[in-house]
Amino acid sequence: MTGRFLTVEGIDGAGKSSHLAALSEAVRSRGAEVVMTREPGGTPLGEKLRGLVLHDAMDGVTEALLMFAARREHLVQVIEPALARGAWVVCDRFSDATYAYQCGGRGLDRAVFAQLEALVHPERQPDATFLFDLDPGVAAARQRAQRREPDRFEREAEAFFGRVRDAYLERARTHAKRFHVIDASTPLEAVRASLMAAFARACP
Ligand code: TMP
Repeated sequence: MTGRFLTVEGIDGAGKSSHLAALSEAVRSRGAEVVMTREPGGTPLGEKLRGLVLHDAMDGVTEALLMFAARREHLVQVIEPALARGAWVVCDRFSDATYAYQCGGRGLDRAVFAQLEALVHPERQPDATFLFDLDPGVAAARQRAQRREPDRFEREAEAFFGRVRDAYLERARTHAKRFHVIDASTPLEAVRASLMAAFARACP
């Protein structure tokens, strides 16, 4: 069996995390080994870097470099070995998140992003990306309902998430073959059904 690399994306509060288990289960039901993982994180070093980027103040370029540093480690230690043995990798965020948050949200030069992407994963892109799309105002209300201490990104203003969302949608347009945009404004069951339909289309 050939491994596949699936990623899940969306602004904070879009609800992607609630659907990761269902996506993994759908893969597993096909008899494949599933590796569920996340970025930033997914390795001991990556999880340390996650703690830094989510909580310590830093410059936008530093932030992008740390995201890509964690990603490199994740690719080498987890993603590539899993794909090589035929496992399916379901990853909560990947480089599209850097494009959306650091380029769209923070204004990082897209040419710098492209250079880092070419350095860190010159030949690897997700086979399919499921983008949970939601209005930032609705996402913010969902976030507030969670009532836990927000991290450095979650504390950003609605305008920031407007830019992140626009960058995600722009990326979805330029990579239309691998992106599947899911309307995350509908009730949970409807979102799940859209995800399952998109999965069936992406991986027939
Ligand atoms: P999570 O809460 O979905 O696990 O993501 C952690 C935060 O990190 C989220 O606010 C998005 C942000 N992030 C970036 O800004 N750039 C990246 O490249 C990645 C992977 C995440």
